[in-house]
Amino acid sequence: MNTEVTLEYVRRPEDGLTGRIPGGLSIEKASVMPRDAYLLGKEFRLTRFHMDENITRAKSDGVWTEYIKNFRPGRASHVFIAKARHETAGIILVNRSAQEGEYVNNLFFVAIKKKFRAKGAGRALIRRSLKWCAGQGGTVTVGTQANNVGALNFYMKNGFTKVRGTKTVLHRWSGR
Ligand SMILES: CC(C)(COP(=O)(O)OP(=O)(O)OC[C@H]1O[C@@H](n2cnc3c(N)ncnc32)[C@H](O)[C@@H]1OP(=O)(O)O)[C@@H](O)C(=O)NCCC(=O)NCCS
Repeated sequence: MNTEVTLEYVRRPEDGLTGRIPGGLSIEKASVMPRDAYLLGKEFRLTRFHMDENITRAKSDGVWTEYIKNFRPGRASHVFIAKARHETAGIILVNRSAQEGEYVNNLFFVAIKKKFRAKGAGRALIRRSLKWCAGQGGTVTVGTQANNVGALNFYMKNGFTKVRGTKTVLHRWSGR
C-alpha cells in the first residue's frame, strides 16, 4: 500500500523563474525524446512498484524504462531535458490536461542521473518547466510518494508549497 501526494506550485509574484544553470549543462524543451533517456528509468527507488514486495527492483525499473521508450511528446505531453555534452543528465515530463474547468500542468517522471545530482540540475529543470507552464496558463502540480522525503523537500524548496491532495494506491494480486 502506498500514499501518493500531489503538490501545487504557488508562485511568488517577484519570482521571474530565471536562475543559474549548472556548468556543463543546457536545459531545453525537446520535440523528441533523447535516445539515451530510457536509462533514467533506473533512477527511481520509491515508486509504487518499487514499494510493492511482490515486484522485483529489476521489474520496477523495467516499467519506467519501457514507459520512457514509449513516450512520444505531443500536444498534451511534453519533455524538458538537462543535457550534458554526451548524455542526457535528467528529464521532466509534463502532461497538460483540462480538469474540472481548469488546465492542469502535471510534472512527472522528474529524474536526474545520480552523478549530476545535488548541483542544481533538478532545480534548473523545474524552473524551465515552470516558465513554460506559466506561458501556457493553468495550475502546476507534481506527484510523489509520501515516503519520498527527499523529493518532497526538493519540491517544497522549488515552490510546490500547497498540498492539493493525497491518494492511497493498492495493487491487487489475484489468488491472495
Ligand atoms: C529529486 C531529484 C530530481 C533532485 O535533483 P537534483 O539535481 O539533485 O536537485 P538540485 O541539486 O536542484 O536540488 C537539490 C536540493 O533538493 C534537496 N534534495 C534533493 N534530493 C534530495 C534527497 N534525496 N534527500 C534530501 N534532500 C534532497 C536537497 O536538500 C537540495 O537542497 P539545497 O539546494 O538547499 O542543498 C533527484 O534527487 C532525483 O532524480 N531523485 C531520484 C528520482 C526521484 O525520486 N524523483 C522524484 C520523485 S517523482
